Amino acid sequence: MKIILKIQRFNPESDAHPEYRSYTVDVEPTDRLLDALMHIKRFQDGTLAFRKSCAHGVCGSDAMRINGKDALACKTLIQDVAETEGETVVIEPLRHFPVQRDLIVDQTSFLNKYRIIKPYLINDEPVAEGERRQSQEERMAFDDTTNCILCSACFSACPVLADRPDFIGPAAIVQAYRFLADTRDKGFEDRLPVLDTPEGVWPCRNHFECTKACPRLIKITKRINQTKKMIQKFHEKQQE
Ligand code: SF4
Ligand code: FES
Repeated sequence: MKIILKIQRFNPESDAHPEYRSYTVDVEPTDRLLDALMHIKRFQDGTLAFRKSCAHGVCGSDAMRINGKDALACKTLIQDVAETEGETVVIEPLRHFPVQRDLIVDQTSFLNKYRIIKPYLINDEPVAEGERRQSQEERMAFDDTTNCILCSACFSACPVLADRPDFIGPAAIVQAYRFLADTRDKGFEDRLPVLDTPEGVWPCRNHFECTKACPRLIKITKRINQTKKMIQKFHEKQQE
């Protein structure tokens, strides 16, 4: 069937404003949206710019807005977004980022927020028996958070970031939780100066938009709330 992809285009070197350009593409309902974008790039308009790499939902590079929802183009089937012949699918870059070109955004702010939560195991204690042991239950406490591919879909979906661009954002908190909940990690207080601030965990108001957008089904809002609780418990203990 034929569908129309209405894509937001912007080249900062030549365009004053972003504008939409429409492309008619022949697709199968079971094709991925990424296939349709690749078809446009190969056969209709080689100037179209977007990121992609693995094409299997692993690298996180092709997150974009598809009919107003944040998703990976390689994990979105045509039948998920267009059911009838001639239907239009609107494709836009992720929100809350400067656009570098077309669907490519500058993720520096996102990556900086990720870096400052110290996304690595912190533990200076000597290792007993050659490894730091952990039970299966302890590992499962943060299992979903290890699946994050840093695609930024949650960041774009977050309504808080629209008003508070300095908010650390959902992915950084997910990554912090991944280590705070890890029994092997001792870096709680190292991460506190970033998490326990007005732009740390507290601006989250449980909109759940991040959780809905996450292609890896991470329980983002729940993990944010658990992080808040950890911080509250820490303060309660301090006062005892
Ligand atoms: S938490 Fe989910 S949506 Fe957010 S960056 Fe990680 S994989 Fe992407
Ligand atoms: S291209 Fe790697 S996640 Fe889609």
